[in-house]
Amino acid sequence: MMNLRLLEPEDIPAVHELWREARLPVRPEGRDSPGSVAAEIEDGRTFYVGAFEGGRLVGVALGTDEGRKGWVNRLAVAPDHRRRGVAAALVAFCEREFLKRGRGLVCALVEEDNDASLALFRREGYVPRRDILYLRKALRGETW
Ligand SMILES: CC(C)(COP(=O)(O)OP(=O)(O)OC[C@H]1O[C@@H](n2cnc3c(N)ncnc32)[C@H](O)[C@@H]1OP(=O)(O)O)[C@@H](O)C(=O)NCCC(=O)NCCS
Repeated sequence: MMNLRLLEPEDIPAVHELWREARLPVRPEGRDSPGSVAAEIEDGRTFYVGAFEGGRLVGVALGTDEGRKGWVNRLAVAPDHRRRGVAAALVAFCEREFLKRGRGLVCALVEEDNDASLALFRREGYVPRRDILYLRKALRGETW
């Protein structure tokens, strides 16, 4: 049986392992370092939610309340647990959390060739905007 819970800084090594398994980039020295993640969680605007089965972390999502909207980021499910509704449950958890915080709009950034993620978000009711470009700038020389 799957259960969902908010993650703590101690869970982060397992999150890194899962992201690697799901082929998402991990920056253990940068934004994903234990110190950065602990500060993010402490700050309260960002929450990490994990899906567990038999005590094993099999899915994760990061929710960020930017003050106006909620963002779902870094969604990943272990390859051997896909197509069982884990990601959909994580997205629904984030949506409930954002509603509690008074946010009525939730967004996600998805690479345009990520068919599985696009299918998932569309199935959950997310509508793509093709007229917007994502722009970014590194202020401290970060390598994305
Ligand atoms: C994208 C990802 C998180 C989906 O996780 P998942 O737990 O398998 O998704 P779910 O089981 O909740 O899927 C719900 C629905 O989304 C759609 N969907 C999900 N994966 C799909 C796929 N590979 N192909 C087509 N549709 C898919 C289906 O409609 C699915 O419902 P169904 O299984 O009843 O047909 C997972 O494939 C993953 O971890 N990918 C690698 C990391 C990644 O790309 N993350 C997203 C970054 S934006």
